Amino acid sequence: MIISEELLQQKLNNPFRYFASVDSTNDIAQDWLRNGAKQGSVVIADEQRKGRGRRGRTWYTPPNVALAVSVILNASPENASQSSMVGALAVYDLCEQVGLSHIGIKWPNDVQVRGKKISGVLPEAVWEGDKLLGVVLGIGVNIRNQFEGELVDIATSIESELGQAVDRVDLIAYLVERVDFWATKLSSDDLVQSWKSRLNTLGQAVVVEGINQRIVGQAVDVETNGTLLIKTEDGSIHPVMAGDVSLRTQNEG
Ligand code: BTN
Repeated sequence: MIISEELLQQKLNNPFRYFASVDSTNDIAQDWLRNGAKQGSVVIADEQRKGRGRRGRTWYTPPNVALAVSVILNASPENASQSSMVGALAVYDLCEQVGLSHIGIKWPNDVQVRGKKISGVLPEAVWEGDKLLGVVLGIGVNIRNQFEGELVDIATSIESELGQAVDRVDLIAYLVERVDFWATKLSSDDLVQSWKSRLNTLGQAVVVEGINQRIVGQAVDVETNGTLLIKTEDGSIHPVMAGDVSLRTQNEG
């Protein structure tokens, strides 16, 4: 069933804009922010034709099967890099709320259930000259996607994990409520510790494909801005600000 705008109106406390089909909810939210949208404003779409993923990847959202939501956050230059923690924690809470278990956050902000990706987060900072207007926090959650090919082993959805149907409007309302909650904790130790304690990456032997770098080692810690620290064989520590992590057992590396 398509998302009902009327039900969103009833269940969502935040200002929102709903679209049956858009290129990307993050684009609409960026424009809205440039035109004065306030903290907590939400853009929701049933379908995204050109959704964006991390690191330049495409994130296609077919109609009827997922959540595609972008929330506007009043982040500062100092805490903007923590926005993705807000998104990952909100999705983590959503998974718990619907009754899922074996939930973890794979650094930096993928939420996994039984080791398979159920959600991705894409924060995009919006600048006017050298002034940060805010961050558009894009969140995609798989609800009943049919995965094919190699995705079958690495991706999952809420309904396939749960074995029963869920109401997307209820899920959006709860997700946005949790984004609002965690956003109040930007810059706090509580936010960072909550995110860190839900990470399933720490302590693992990993390969990190970063920007112009590939590091093989052990994920030992994270910094307050989200940077991952990798200890390599020679004992040195390498900070990684952005990248893709895979477990070393899945790679020869
Ligand atoms: C990832 O690569 O894991 C991040 C995916 C983020 C997808 C969401 S869906 C809503 C918002 N709009 C977009 O175009 N992307 C984000």
